[in-house]
Amino acid sequence: MSADPSVVHQLAIERVDNLEPQDLADLCEATNAAIAEGGGFGWLEAQSRAALERHFRGVLLVPERELFIARLDGEVAGSAQMVRPPRNNEAQGFSAQLTHAFIAPYARGFGLARLLIRKIEERAAGLGIRVLNLDVRATQKTAIALFEGLGYVRWGTHPAYARVNGETVAGYHYYRVIEVPHGRSSAEALGDFKGD
Ligand SMILES: CC(C)(COP(=O)(O)OP(=O)(O)OC[C@H]1O[C@@H](n2cnc3c(N)ncnc32)[C@H](O)[C@@H]1OP(=O)(O)O)[C@@H](O)C(=O)NCCC(=O)NCCS
Repeated sequence: MSADPSVVHQLAIERVDNLEPQDLADLCEATNAAIAEGGGFGWLEAQSRAALERHFRGVLLVPERELFIARLDGEVAGSAQMVRPPRNNEAQGFSAQLTHAFIAPYARGFGLARLLIRKIEERAAGLGIRVLNLDVRATQKTAIALFEGLGYVRWGTHPAYARVNGETVAGYHYYRVIEVPHGRSSAEALGDFKGD
C-alpha cells in the first residue's frame, strides 16, 4: 500500500477497552512491522505473537492506561497509549503521558498518526487533563516532525535516553498544553510557568 493521493482511504481512530481476535492479530502484525522497520515502541527485535498479545491484553487491564487503535480501511494498522498518573500522584493529576505511538510502515503517510494524536488530546481534554507529555528518540525524525507540527514544545534533551544497536541515543522531551471543554482556560488553571 502506498500513499497515492488519488485513492480515498477510510481512516478511523478508536479508544478500545477490548480487542476482537482479528483486531488483536492485526495490531500484533502492525507492531512487528513497525519494529522491523526500526521505529518506536521500545522493542528492538520482532516479538512472538504470544508476547505481543500479552502486552496488549496487559495494557487493557491497567486502569491508568488507555489504548487507542488506528484503522486504515477497517484494518488495525497502528496504536498509541495514554497513561495517567496513579491516583496517589495528585500533584500531576492534570497531566498524562502519550506513549507507544506508531503506525505500521504500510499505512504511513495517510494522516493516521495526526488523527490518532488529536483523538488522544480530545479524550485527555474530556478527562480534564491540561498537559500531555511525551518523549521520543532523537533519531525518530518523522515522529519529531509530527509532534512539532502538532504544537508540542520540546523542553529538554536526555543525552542517554536509549540504547539501540549498541549505541547510546539521545531523547527529546515534549509537552503540549491543551484546553479542556468546560471551566477555566488552561492558562488560568496552570498560571505562569516557565515553558520553553
Ligand atoms: C511517526 C509516525 C507515527 C507517523 O505516522 P503517519 O501516519 O505516517 O503520519 P501522518 O500521515 O499522520 O503525518 C502527520 C505528520 O507527520 C509528519 N510526517 C509524516 N510522514 C513524514 C515523513 N515521511 N517525513 C517528514 N514528516 C513526516 C508530517 O509533519 C505530517 O504532517 P503533514 O502531512 O502535514 O506534512 C510513523 O512514521 C511511525 O510510526 N514511526 C515509527 C514510530 C515512532 O517514531 N513513533 C513515535 C515515537 S512515540
